[in-house]
Amino acid sequence: MSKPYTITTPIYYVNDSPHIGHAYTSLACDVLARFKRMDGYDVHFLTGTDEHGQKVAKSAEAAGVDPLTFCDRVSQNFRDLGTAMQFTNDDFIRTTEPRHVKACQALWAELIKRGEIYLDKYAGWYAVRDEAFYAADELKDGPNGKKIAPSGAECEWVEEPSYFFKLSAWQDKLLAFYEKNPDFILPASRRNEVISFVKGGLRDLSVSRTTFTWGICVPGDEKHIMYVWLDALTNYITALGYPDTNAPLYKKHWPADVHMVGKDILRFHTVYWPAFLMAAGLEPPKRVFAHGWWTNEGQKISKSTGNVINPLELTATYGLDQVRYFLLREVPFGQDGDYAKAAMIQRINSDLSNNFGNLAQRTLSIIAKNCNAAVPNAGAFTDVDKALLQRAYNLLPLCRGHLDVQAFNKALDEIWAVSGEANRYIDEQVPWTLKKTDPARMETVLYVLAETIRCLALITLPFMPSSMHKMLNQLAVPEDKRNYTELNAQHALKAGTALPAPQGIFPRFVEAPAA
Ligand code: MSP
Repeated sequence: MSKPYTITTPIYYVNDSPHIGHAYTSLACDVLARFKRMDGYDVHFLTGTDEHGQKVAKSAEAAGVDPLTFCDRVSQNFRDLGTAMQFTNDDFIRTTEPRHVKACQALWAELIKRGEIYLDKYAGWYAVRDEAFYAADELKDGPNGKKIAPSGAECEWVEEPSYFFKLSAWQDKLLAFYEKNPDFILPASRRNEVISFVKGGLRDLSVSRTTFTWGICVPGDEKHIMYVWLDALTNYITALGYPDTNAPLYKKHWPADVHMVGKDILRFHTVYWPAFLMAAGLEPPKRVFAHGWWTNEGQKISKSTGNVINPLELTATYGLDQVRYFLLREVPFGQDGDYAKAAMIQRINSDLSNNFGNLAQRTLSIIAKNCNAAVPNAGAFTDVDKALLQRAYNLLPLCRGHLDVQAFNKALDEIWAVSGEANRYIDEQVPWTLKKTDPARMETVLYVLAETIRCLALITLPFMPSSMHKMLNQLAVPEDKRNYTELNAQHALKAGTALPAPQGIFPRFVEAPAA
């Protein structure tokens, strides 16, 4: 039986259309899911939409439709984004689905049974935009006398009966859990941030509201609606069959290997979520990775500034694989990054077109012209040949290591270093000159290059699936040989295999002249 690998995106609020931030989180998960599948894992990759709560209810009201009609519409936009960006999620969950209502109510009942939830009154600050409660000392005074949360969201005073989760009782257990699982929160800087927050003391958490109705009812006390974060976080186990903890998916895929999240929702995933789970007698996830935020040409992205980046417009302009590559190459994963048009064009032209694209184009067109359009015959390898091939085969263990800690940019750096090395090799070995002086050596050199390109295409496939499939088609690598058991010398290209006519994969980006 293959080993399980379980990865999730946050479920996206349906108050908004999908933007670059959503595409980024899901893209990182997609690359990881594809890589792990190629590496022989049984992957479960989950995404979906977060449809309850005041924020969504207000957006529906503003749009003049009932909340469910509104959710149906916006949730579909997220599915469409996934299709357009070639995300390979195994499930798409919506929190308005009956399976999810059932899971949330069962989790609630379990927490009640274990004495982890009690009824009281909440009086304090709440930010609808963040769907989060804040203590008075966390807030600043904004214009018009409004209180402002650290995230910049406006807060309102809330006073209502509420159920509370005994979060304060979990402080020491959470700290012990972080201590025992040093990789639970990555990157490390985020881990320190969470630990100091928890050390600062945890208050019991209000987990129900009574002033609106768009949400999941508390079982047995229907005027209470569950706190939207308790509802939303539960999606990760709903999708695996909870409350049936003997369901095959649950048994195989829980605890999740990685919950991928943005840095803004770290606290919910690393404090509340493991506490809810432990309190219900369930295992916490193995890792939460918090990535950074994108700015647009140096500016914070916001609807009011009007600089929101629509991922579909981006891919229509630059190409899907180009955008997938840019987003994961430009910024060390975990840090904030800036989207700049000039940087995008630079990546496309220098990394994709001049480096990797040119390597493939040169090699394949010489082979087409001089080797009867078939994989060349290799003679004995020189040390230089062996060194290049070894670097290509070594990419698999190197990238495995990087992807296991979500260091996508480091994996791409390694891959491009080998592509650069192969370009140097072709310049030094000059196969076009060898054609006249030593045709047998020319074939060996071209073989080494073709085999290196096969390895580069296989390792890059999770990042740029369409382009790399095209590249592997040009090397006549069968579909069922596009996985990581093949990325070694035993499965190298076979001399004499007929190759199709070469085609450019990465055109240069030339900006259309202004009209
Ligand atoms: N619904 C909650 C998550 C519940 S998970 C149980 C939520 N949704 S969201 O739609 O607001 O955000 C989803 C993700 O998009 C978050 O991980 C967030 O960090 C990410 N991004 C939103 N704007 C972003 C950028 N400008 N840049 C990068 N990612 C950002 O939070």
